[in-house]
Amino acid sequence: MYNPQLNRHGELTHLLTTEGLPRDILTHILDTASTFVPLAARDVKKVPLLRGKSVFNLFFENSTRTRTTFEIAATRLSADVFNLNINASSTSKGETLLDTIANLMAMQADIFVVRHEASGAPFLIAKHVAPDVHVINAGDGRHAHPTQALLDMYTIRHFKKSFSDLTVAIVGDVLHSRVARSNIHALTTLGVAEVRAIGPLTLLPSGLDQMGVKTFTRMEDGLRDADVIIMLRLQNERMRGALLPSSHEYFKHYGLTEKKLAFAKPDVLVMHPGPMNRGVEIESAVADGPHSVILNQVTFGIAVRMAVMSIVAGASA
Ligand code: CP
Repeated sequence: MYNPQLNRHGELTHLLTTEGLPRDILTHILDTASTFVPLAARDVKKVPLLRGKSVFNLFFENSTRTRTTFEIAATRLSADVFNLNINASSTSKGETLLDTIANLMAMQADIFVVRHEASGAPFLIAKHVAPDVHVINAGDGRHAHPTQALLDMYTIRHFKKSFSDLTVAIVGDVLHSRVARSNIHALTTLGVAEVRAIGPLTLLPSGLDQMGVKTFTRMEDGLRDADVIIMLRLQNERMRGALLPSSHEYFKHYGLTEKKLAFAKPDVLVMHPGPMNRGVEIESAVADGPHSVILNQVTFGIAVRMAVMSIVAGASA
């Protein structure tokens, strides 16, 4: 089946979504990332793999973690990194996305890292770039956030060693979450035993069962014996109409507290892609507690993004 992320040799040339990515490619990215992790402890945290290459960060939506770790990752690969200031760019004068891309390709761009509020924007760009130019999706609308999913998979594998026996619970605003969607595809491809989604019915999309996900509306049921809990932010900016009574009420039923955490396994991992809303989806005692690997996720994100950039740049044109 045609996959716009793979070239005719089956190599990863763009990273747009985890949906449909073969297991061996996911595993190759995680294995490659593990070779970059030790670099962080070295005095000189650089390798020359992307020397002479130009990476353009195009963030049409705000970001702290993704934009910064992509910049660190590209710098550690010895690339030249350019962060386009979208607010000061000619997009505000009516230039189209594809004209912006064409102009940046005229400046010899090699890799575009794209975050956009419109689902599908990185796919559109990937269709129009030259064969030797690579596109990495850094989050598009509510559709996909593949590098977040990959760094989540890296974190799970690091702490749990294998995927096959795990029960992973994804909690909260699954409806609006590109992270949830990308994680569900990655977790099922990597063969976890059970993926669960927990939330109020208004925030659980239809079709989860077809994706192999069990749904729960009560934390007590969905968290029972979970090995990994992935908490999601309430994406108020993507909600149309009142889907929830109040954030106070939401916290009461779906906020992760130490009391609710006790339903999970004693060695459960607590994850969150960030940004976190303390007191809305998670209490500080849990976010900063012994089960939390939230900051480990951020750190592993650098190595995972190095892996993705080095792999796509190595794909033949
Ligand atoms: N997880 C994530 O995408 O965070 P940022 O919005 O800060 O990049």
